[in-house]
Amino acid sequence: MTKIAIVEGDGIGHEVIPVAREALALLHPEFDFFPVEVGYRRWEETGCPCADKDISALKTADAILFGAVTTPPMKDYQSVVLRIRKALDLFANLRPIRGEHFDIMIVRENTEGLYSGIEETGENRATTLRVVTRKGTERIARAAIRCARQRSGKITVGHKANVLKSDVFFRNICLAEAQKAGITCNDHYIDSLSLDILQHPGSYDVIVTTNIFGDILSDMSSYLVGGLGLVPSANIGERYALFEPVHGSAPDIAGKNIANPVAALRSAAMLLAHLGDKEGSARIESAIQRTLDAGIRTRDIGGTAGTREIGNAVTNLLAKSA
Ligand code: NAI
Ligand code: MG
Repeated sequence: MTKIAIVEGDGIGHEVIPVAREALALLHPEFDFFPVEVGYRRWEETGCPCADKDISALKTADAILFGAVTTPPMKDYQSVVLRIRKALDLFANLRPIRGEHFDIMIVRENTEGLYSGIEETGENRATTLRVVTRKGTERIARAAIRCARQRSGKITVGHKANVLKSDVFFRNICLAEAQKAGITCNDHYIDSLSLDILQHPGSYDVIVTTNIFGDILSDMSSYLVGGLGLVPSANIGERYALFEPVHGSAPDIAGKNIANPVAALRSAAMLLAHLGDKEGSARIESAIQRTLDAGIRTRDIGGTAGTREIGNAVTNLLAKSA
């Protein structure tokens, strides 16, 4: 039986993930869903945001549907997302940005770079070590190549090799891997790339980049499609896979039934595609599109509908198309 771990997390995770889970349950009543509670609320209640046994539970799932967790800017609070990404070795973070005239896949290295976790805070100086390894770069380059092969087949490497030696290393390995694979590949400085994506999104296909650049680039690129409420992501490793909206726990709008559940629904669609159900994945995407086209939208994209209303519209369409 296919086991799906459901992690609502914090904030709007409790609103958008139930919507996405419902869509999955409708298409796959045979799935075994089980909850895993991690995050800031869990920390407030128990003093531990994510225990070893939660990681073990996540490892029993065929796929994980994840909301978002609040990470308070507190010294000594360990980020749950980073812990899970590292523990499950989810090295490739795929973030699709799709619009009428563009279809971009941001492939972000997810386990090292500036998020290495190797840090020191002293009285007068704080440092974070930016770690880029050959193994880490080769495998993210290969993930980008696999993506490119399923699409139009072009890769752009985003980097800051004019300043950072670690990015000269990253760029060169990516270019070499692409050349070996026979995939068209160019490279761009990440700062000018950021502007160019907004001005000419249609010129890009797969963009591969290091951890923090990919994080920033994907939030920024979500502007092209209407904001964070719409962009899903997949975190893929050799053995495990976790699907989550790009957005965070949005405490400013949590509990008000106004969060956009589309990013979470699209994450569920990516989860199905990963498990081999391309048709189910396409059905969720099409139900979302029809709902948006009918003007049923949350207020972040100019509508007045609530989270539940979008969820009901999408699940009704899914039930009808069964
Ligand atoms: P955020 O993505 O939660 O929110 C940024 C802005 O976008 C807010 O104004 C929010 O209301 C809006 N927004 C986000 N998702 C939306 C949705 N589905 N519908 C409508 N509006 C939406 O980022 P922020 O504010 O920087 O972080 C809040 C918390 O989330 C922090 O504790 C942060 O650490 C955490 N976070 C967690 C992530 C994860 O679990 N993967 C990823 C990013 C942030
Ligand atoms: Mg982010």
